[in-house]
Amino acid sequence: MGPALEDALLAAGYDDVTAESLTHPVHPYPARLHPATAARLIAIVMDTAGRGAAVLDPFCGSGTVLIEARAAGWRALGVDLNPLAVRLARVKTWTAPVPRRRLARELGRRIAGDVMLAGREARRAGATAPPLRGPAGFDPNARQRRIGKWFSPHVRRELESIMAAIDEVAVDDAEVAEVLTMALSGILYKVSHRRSDTDPTWVERAVARGAAARLFGDRVEMIVAGLEDLARVPGLMPQVIEADARALAKLDLPPVMGIVTSPPYAGTYDYAEQHRLRFDFFGIRHRAFDDGELAPRRAFLSNSAAATTRWRADLGDAVGALVSALAPGGLAALVVGDSIAGKVCFADEDLRSVLDDRVDVVAWAWQERQKLGPERHLFPRDRPKREHIIVLHRR
Ligand SMILES: C[S@@+](CC[C@H](N)C(=O)[O-])C[C@H]1O[C@@H](n2cnc3c(N)ncnc32)[C@H](O)[C@@H]1O
Repeated sequence: MGPALEDALLAAGYDDVTAESLTHPVHPYPARLHPATAARLIAIVMDTAGRGAAVLDPFCGSGTVLIEARAAGWRALGVDLNPLAVRLARVKTWTAPVPRRRLARELGRRIAGDVMLAGREARRAGATAPPLRGPAGFDPNARQRRIGKWFSPHVRRELESIMAAIDEVAVDDAEVAEVLTMALSGILYKVSHRRSDTDPTWVERAVARGAAARLFGDRVEMIVAGLEDLARVPGLMPQVIEADARALAKLDLPPVMGIVTSPPYAGTYDYAEQHRLRFDFFGIRHRAFDDGELAPRRAFLSNSAAATTRWRADLGDAVGALVSALAPGGLAALVVGDSIAGKVCFADEDLRSVLDDRVDVVAWAWQERQKLGPERHLFPRDRPKREHIIVLHRR
């Protein structure tokens, strides 16, 4: 298994074809697992599994493992506490007959065309004020306060018009409306004044009139094309559940033969913050995620000692739950990375410290990662910063 595991790590550096395939590139998502790594890890953990066996990713994020499992013909189950991730992973693995996909494409084109046309007419009439939309159950004024500064007025007008058209589609066809919504989510930051998903700095960004609508239309095309490729392999649509990975037992899932997952790296990301503008724009409730996100950066910045204690307990709970979900003889591949979370965290040591006697570590591979900024001084000179894959076997 050793060389195959090393190749799973190295493939991220050379296999661009897999990365660009299927629905992988349709939406940004920080710290996505590389699709080529996911594909290889699935092959490793499912090597001896029989037909109909399932792969689980309890931190499925944007659905990379689910897409690759679905493409390889396995049943796939995904769990994530981020409500946007769950919606995105469902759309990226949407398994529907040809006419349904065709409808999504046609509606995407029509909405993009209508909004561009309406923008031109509004310009002639000299209209500038963006309309205030109110997702059900959200105060439009509070929403305006949160998102107002992030979009130029003409961009906001296009985005709101697109979303109003999607709301109309949703009345009769929530499934297709969801594909359109995730297409809009995929371009939202590109046309905003937010520098990037991971950097909330306000930046000046000139976005041409009509560009948001055009990008939206293109994104719908991209999703549908990816879904068409995915549909070439017959298979069931993966099941994606919004839940806390520490509480997998409550979901009553059937035991799985394989797990491939990448839990959050301690103190590295802040998913709730990274998606906040999307949450506010689409009116997505996220309280449970704010409270339950594992090892977010914000927790270590506010009280490092408390966050470290909580991280150890949370990691133990999450790994314990994941091991319980594994059938006897099953394999779990975990991708984890060293990080700075108050102090240096060596992810392999953290992980090994929470394992119990239900599992054996049967393989371990790692590769060195570049130390960035202060990491250069904080990591010991004689020890690299590494990303690891650890494979567990359930007794
Ligand atoms: C490294 S990312 C996984 C990315 C995913 N492999 C992909 O390719 O998109 C870690 C994920 O853990 C999720 N997460 C954080 N805390 C969680 C919790 N308590 N339960 C379930 N998911 C959680 C985050 O929302 C994020 O999607």
